[in-house]
Amino acid sequence: MCGIAGHYGSSDTGEVLLDMLKRLEYRGYDSTGAAFLSGSDISTVKGTGDIEKIKENVVFLGSVADGGIGHTRWATHGRASDENAHPHSSCENRFSLVHNGIIENHRKIKSELGGHKFYSETDSEVAVHYIEEKSTLGVENAVVSFMEKAKGSYAVALMDSKEERVFLLKNGSPLAIGIGKKDVFIASDPFAFHSYTDRVLFLRDGEYAVVDNCDVTIKNLDGAVQKRKPEVLEWKERSFGKNGYRHYMQKEIREIPGCIERLEKLLETVESEKVDGFIDALLGKDKVVLTASGTSHHASMLGSRFLRKVGVDARVVVASEFGENFEIDEETLLLAVSQSGETKDVLDAIETARKMGADIASITNTPHSTIQRRSDVNLGIHAGREFCVAATKTFTNQVYTLRKISKRIRGRSSVGNLPSNLKNTIKKNGEAVKKVAEELKNKEDIYILGKGEMHPVAEEISLKLKEIAYIHAEGMMGGELKHGTLALIEEGTPVISLVPRRNSDIVSNLKEVKSRGANSIEISPFSDRFELPDEDEDFIFFSAVLGFMLTYWIGRKKGLPVDRPRNLAKSVTVR
Ligand code: AGP
Repeated sequence: MCGIAGHYGSSDTGEVLLDMLKRLEYRGYDSTGAAFLSGSDISTVKGTGDIEKIKENVVFLGSVADGGIGHTRWATHGRASDENAHPHSSCENRFSLVHNGIIENHRKIKSELGGHKFYSETDSEVAVHYIEEKSTLGVENAVVSFMEKAKGSYAVALMDSKEERVFLLKNGSPLAIGIGKKDVFIASDPFAFHSYTDRVLFLRDGEYAVVDNCDVTIKNLDGAVQKRKPEVLEWKERSFGKNGYRHYMQKEIREIPGCIERLEKLLETVESEKVDGFIDALLGKDKVVLTASGTSHHASMLGSRFLRKVGVDARVVVASEFGENFEIDEETLLLAVSQSGETKDVLDAIETARKMGADIASITNTPHSTIQRRSDVNLGIHAGREFCVAATKTFTNQVYTLRKISKRIRGRSSVGNLPSNLKNTIKKNGEAVKKVAEELKNKEDIYILGKGEMHPVAEEISLKLKEIAYIHAEGMMGGELKHGTLALIEEGTPVISLVPRRNSDIVSNLKEVKSRGANSIEISPFSDRFELPDEDEDFIFFSAVLGFMLTYWIGRKKGLPVDRPRNLAKSVTVR
C-alpha cells in the first residue's frame, strides 16, 4: 500500500509535497517522510505518525529545494518506526528512494549486497542499495537491472543527487505523472496532484521514466522510448474537507441520500446508454461472477442476489479467495466491484479470470483507477471522493447501482422516495442512535442477525463495528444461530436483528435470543427504539445507514480515530 508523491519544478516543493501527501494519506498513515534535492544535496525528514508531525520541516526544506519525493506508509515489512519510514537513502546518500508494493525476493537481493549498511527492516531498502551498487554501470542501467531482478509489485521514485534526476519504476503498483507547465508531479494516484494539472501520463508495468529538469522520458526495459500523449483527466471533485463535521465518516453518511439521488439522475440521463451497454455485456455471457473485497464484497453479495432474481446466473467469490479452481471460461463475465479501483486482490482476480478467457466488467468509484482501465466495460458509482477509511456512501451507491442494473434487466426502474426516506432516517434517529451507542460502547461482542438480503447487510454492519468501534462483531444468518452460536448468548449479550417486516422469518430467531436473556436491539420499522420507513424493498438502505450511524457514534463515544482506524488503509494495494 503506501502513497508516493514527488515534485520537480518551479512551484514550492514543500507546499506541493505537503498537499499531495495529505491527499494520499488514505493509502496509509503509519509513518511519513520526504527527501529534498537542492543542488546535489539530499535532505531527509521522516518518522512515525502522519504528515502533521513533520509538516514544518517539509515546508522549510521544500521551500529551498529544486524537487523532492515523499511517502506515506502502511507497514507491511517491518513495524511502523522512524527507521522503517521512507525515504530510504543509499550508503553514500547519493540516492533516496520511496516505494509502494512488496519486493518479494528482497532477502535474496540483500544477501548479494555485502558491504552495504542497512538501517531498516523493510523490503524497500534493498532497492536503493542495489541501484547504488550497480550505478557504476550508469544509473539507468542499474534501474533496468533492478527491474529485471525484482519480483513482486512495486512503484518506486528514486532521486539521484549527482545527476539531479528522478527515476520512476513501475510493476504492479500504480504510478502517475502529472505534467504541468513548469512542473512535474509524481503520485500513486493522480488525485494527489489534480489541483495543479489535469494532464497525466500513467506509467505501465515494466516501464520506467526519467524526470530530468521537467522533461519526462518513458522507456521500456529494452530502453525503447515509449512516446504517448498525456491523458487529460476530467475532475469533478466536490469538496476536500469536513465542512464543519467532526469526522469525514459523519459527513459521508450525511451525503448518502444526495449521492443516491445524483446517481439515479446520471444513470437515467447521461449514463443511460452506458448502463445499456453494461447490461448487454452481462447478458451476452452464460454466467456472471462478482468479485470484490470487504464492504464491496458485501455489496456484491447483494448484487448477485439481485441478478439471480432477474434470471442471470450470478455468483460471488471474495477476491482474496479467487483462484484458478473456479469455473471461469470464455462464457464468463467477471464483474469486479471496488470503491478505490486499486485493490490488489481484485486486480489479481481480474488477471486470473482474463487468462482463463473471461471478459471483465467493473463497478468503481474512483475515476481513472487501474481496475477501470483494465476492464472491458465499466460503470462509475459517482459517490464522490470518500475520505474515511470505512466505506459508507460508496457501499450504498454500489448497492444502488447493482439494484438498478437488475431492475433495468427486468424493465422496471424508479428511484421512488428512497433519498427523502433516507434523509428522514438520518434526521429522525440521531438521538436514538446515540442512546444505543452509549449502551453498546463497552461491550466486547455484538451479534447482528439478518436473513436473505439482510444477511450481507448484517455482515457489513459487523465489519464496521470491528473497523470503527473496535468491537468484535459477528454478522450472521439468523437461521444459523441455533446450529451453534446460540451457545454464546447469555444474559445481556447484545444482538442486533435486521427485521424488514413484521412477519419476517428472523422474528423467530429474535425470540430465541430474547428467551436466553439477550439485549435485543431491533432495527425495524416496528421497533420502539428507531423510526424507520415501512418500505420493505428499501430496507437494505435504511438498515445499513442506521448501522453506519451506530458504529460511528460508538467509535466517537469511545474516542477512537474514526476516520483512520489503527492498522488499516483506505486502499489495499497489497495481497
Ligand atoms: C470498508 O469499510 C473497508 N475499509 C474495506 O473493507 C474496503 O471495502 C475493502 O478494502 C475493499 O476496498 P475497495 O472497495 O476499494 O476495493
